[in-house]
Amino acid sequence: MIESYLRFFQLTEAPFSKEVSDKDLWLPPSKQDVVDEICEAVHERSQVLLYGEPGVGKTCVLRAVRHCLPQAGFRLTYCHNATLGRRDFYRQLCLALGLNPAATAAAVFYAVSLHVENLGRERIHPVFLLDEAHLLHQDMLDHLHILLNYEWDSRALLSLILVGTPDLLDRLELRKNRALYSRIHRRISIGPMTCDDTAEYLRLRLSRVGCERELFASDSTALLHDVAGSSLREIDRLATDAMRDAARRKKKLVERDAVERVAGTLSVGGR
Ligand SMILES: Nc1ncnc2c1ncn2[C@@H]1O[C@H](COP(=O)(O)OP(=O)(O)O)[C@@H](O)[C@H]1O
Ligand SMILES: [Mg+2]
Repeated sequence: MIESYLRFFQLTEAPFSKEVSDKDLWLPPSKQDVVDEICEAVHERSQVLLYGEPGVGKTCVLRAVRHCLPQAGFRLTYCHNATLGRRDFYRQLCLALGLNPAATAAAVFYAVSLHVENLGRERIHPVFLLDEAHLLHQDMLDHLHILLNYEWDSRALLSLILVGTPDLLDRLELRKNRALYSRIHRRISIGPMTCDDTAEYLRLRLSRVGCERELFASDSTALLHDVAGSSLREIDRLATDAMRDAARRKKKLVERDAVERVAGTLSVGGR
């Protein structure tokens, strides 16, 4: 059943759902630059670090990267369960690559590196995308640079894309992780958004579900922007709640007070 706020605003679907399809991703120049830089790095067979606060859109950037890379010539493997120990991590990687996970850690590691070498012979460049990499166990961080070593460390047969919060950067900068960090030449951060970015994002996602008019008043957009702290996930949540609030009050325009109520910033007596 369609939710009542969607009916009220005559929207075909929830505008701020996480189920945004690849073709509907919001890619302003600042985000497109990040996508282009990652694609360029992968073409150069380099390693990449992508970091930013939770909700800034890192995983969505990866989806855009997947879209930009030509299918022929690249084999992308996405791993997001970074909380595994070394053996289980490589077992997961084996499964993602369609290999039989072997019993011992050494055998699993061997299977993965053999697979990477075989792809190299077929002129296919494998790309491992490790999302939530700030959660990687230290024993995995210790080991990743070994996975990058082919033919006496003379060949770049694999690109690693490590994605995580700024904690990941802090960890990589530690002396003990220098062997890995020094091999990652592209270090890209997704920075804060401007208020115009927030307005454009709201507009784009609303237009994708059939709303072409300004649904958020400009001061409510400004407040939403301040409260969300550059997290698109927070914008999604607050915008949805504010729309529900406005719909309950039969208001076709989402005004500042609706955002104040859902963000809990309304002063006492202001209701
Ligand atoms: N480029 C984008 N286009 C459309 N929606 C986005 C985009 N980036 C982020 N979002 C929205 O914000 C939410 C959080 O983004 P996500 O990429 O998962 O953040 P992160 O990985 O940095 O925590 C997504 O579920 C989506 O709704
Ligand atoms: Mg993510």
